[in-house]
Amino acid sequence: MRSAYVNGLYLPHGQAAVHIEDRGFQFADAVYEVIAVQHGHLIDREGHFDRLERSLSELDIPMPMTRRALNVVAAELLRRNSIRFGSLYIQVSRGTAPRDFPFPKDIQPTLVMTAKRLKPFDFTRQAVGVNVITIPDIRWKRCDIKSVGLLAGAMGKTRAQAAGAFEAWQVDDAGMITEGAASNAWIVTADGVLVTRHTDAFILAGITRQTILKLVADEGLGFEERAFSVAEAKGAREAFTSSSTAFIRPVVRIDGDAVGDGRPGPLCLKILELYGRYMEPRA
Ligand code: PDD
Repeated sequence: MRSAYVNGLYLPHGQAAVHIEDRGFQFADAVYEVIAVQHGHLIDREGHFDRLERSLSELDIPMPMTRRALNVVAAELLRRNSIRFGSLYIQVSRGTAPRDFPFPKDIQPTLVMTAKRLKPFDFTRQAVGVNVITIPDIRWKRCDIKSVGLLAGAMGKTRAQAAGAFEAWQVDDAGMITEGAASNAWIVTADGVLVTRHTDAFILAGITRQTILKLVADEGLGFEERAFSVAEAKGAREAFTSSSTAFIRPVVRIDGDAVGDGRPGPLCLKILELYGRYMEPRA
């Protein structure tokens, strides 16, 4: 039976619940991580834990337990659910308290973990191009915190789905692409330069993004971290999107306009291959 972890207990998934006055439920006063599982390993585990710690500290929520303990729970949850390929979801809310805006003091954070089985990473499936649409970025100004306040993302993904697109790339008031509803955005410019937006309070510093930059640097390939406009993206040679759940997906159309020749580009496919290799277990 599928099980979930809630505050010290492993429960049947269907019965796992938190209190109605959990602040995650009432105020989105909670943060989360999604970590890919390949061959039974959590991909970029330390990077995800670093970001979890940072999100919590920005909101003055204590870590619910040590990293070591988080690891033990994660491993046990994967074991109980017999998951070798899939994803792990971790959510920490400030805790439960009578509804009142200011952060209550001295309450216990709520820790929830769930795990989901997914198909193993498959280069051929990943290499299929997807479409994106562009939408206004209507989010708050602390997108660097991985909070569960995901309504703008949910609205964006719903619009993308209705338009037959895989993702919605969000655009700020200056016409620059910030990031996807649930992914980071990348282009290879008309001059062949790999570009992804610099990190600041307006985007989430993606862990997949960080790993791609490292893999690219290790290959001796160059890149630029800077904002790019919708027009530059539409005139780009290649585009792609990255996240822990979708890994890397080539983007072949933006708002219906073909990117490059309308097919997944060589640099994107090269990075996808590097990423696939990176996730293979090492001896
Ligand atoms: N989303 N930007 C946003 C707004 C995201 O929600 C995500 C991930 C990313 C990519 O980050 P990472 O490479 O660390 O997954 C960028 C997760 C997968 C989700 O909400 O399901």
